[in-house]
Amino acid sequence: TTSLREAAAKKDTLIGSGAINPTYLDDPQFAAVLGEQFNSLSPENEMKWSFLNPTEGHYNWDAIDRLVQFAEDNDMAVKGHGIISGCCNPDYLLNITDPTAFRAAMTAHFEAVMHRYDGKIDRWDVVTEALATQGGGMQANDFYSVLGPGYIEDAFRIARAADPDAKLFINENLVETYPGKRQELYDLVSGLVRAGVPIDGVALQLHITQVAPAPGVITNIVTSYKALGLEVAIAEMDVHTLDAALQADIYGAVVDEALKAGITDISFWGFTDKHAYTWLPGAKPLMFDESYHAKGAFYATHTALTNF
Ligand code: G3I
Repeated sequence: TTSLREAAAKKDTLIGSGAINPTYLDDPQFAAVLGEQFNSLSPENEMKWSFLNPTEGHYNWDAIDRLVQFAEDNDMAVKGHGIISGCCNPDYLLNITDPTAFRAAMTAHFEAVMHRYDGKIDRWDVVTEALATQGGGMQANDFYSVLGPGYIEDAFRIARAADPDAKLFINENLVETYPGKRQELYDLVSGLVRAGVPIDGVALQLHITQVAPAPGVITNIVTSYKALGLEVAIAEMDVHTLDAALQADIYGAVVDEALKAGITDISFWGFTDKHAYTWLPGAKPLMFDESYHAKGAFYATHTALTNF
């Protein structure tokens, strides 16, 4: 079998691994499989605010610099993930209660990060998990608390100004599962588009637990956003089941439907089930086992990429 990235290159598709903590690159096997199989990567937590910028004006660039260098050495794209997230915000930010000052802190942070990686990171999850997990309103995160629902518009405008050439995504979970949340995200995003907010696409997380999205759902999502002039990507796919055959079927079916619907940017939330490296040790949700052997999920994904 060829690698995933060789199969993907023939179809002009990004096939990526997210959840890359740069310290994992110390493991030569991890680094080798990542570089061989994927043409894109994104960090796990290292770009979240408190990791990158724990105190005002102080940045720990080493971790992301290392990822970006690895990507350059291995001819991979890098996707920015976590510049705004519900978790992991530093005290200096949380102590700001005045909206104008809060927006200024966001602008300074986005400019610092996006200018540093200008031309090296060309697509970003700008806002992640804006909506409540099962839908029914917005997530009352640290940004919402100070700026209200308008923080989303602020974030996209600040991001576009910081890097006019980057593709900007809103990243959301479980819209494939809950029809009400699917509609809510569509209403939110179509509202942004109507208001002229600079957004390029919607990134579906696709953390799948036992049950795959119903056939046709991903296609409908892509069609609805295409009509708004937006692209849909897959940002964090994994499939949590210890039934390897079922897992392979789900990987294959989802990737196949996504590619046929026109998705050209698919990332998984890691690639090896190795305990130290997965956000859910024991769930074995990924394409390679603990010893980096390809699982059924890998072959099903490869087949989908080759055949569509
Ligand atoms: O860094 C501290 C460490 O100092 C402390 O000793 C330890 C004790 O619990 O916690 C460490 O922080 C943890 C951090 O990961 C780094 O390991 C947090 O508790 C833990 O909550 C955090 O989890 C991350 C989670 O996002 C936070 O929301 C996961 O690793 C990460 O995989 C996960 O990724 C998210 C995406 O960003 C967005 N979509 C969903 C996805 C999975 O939840």
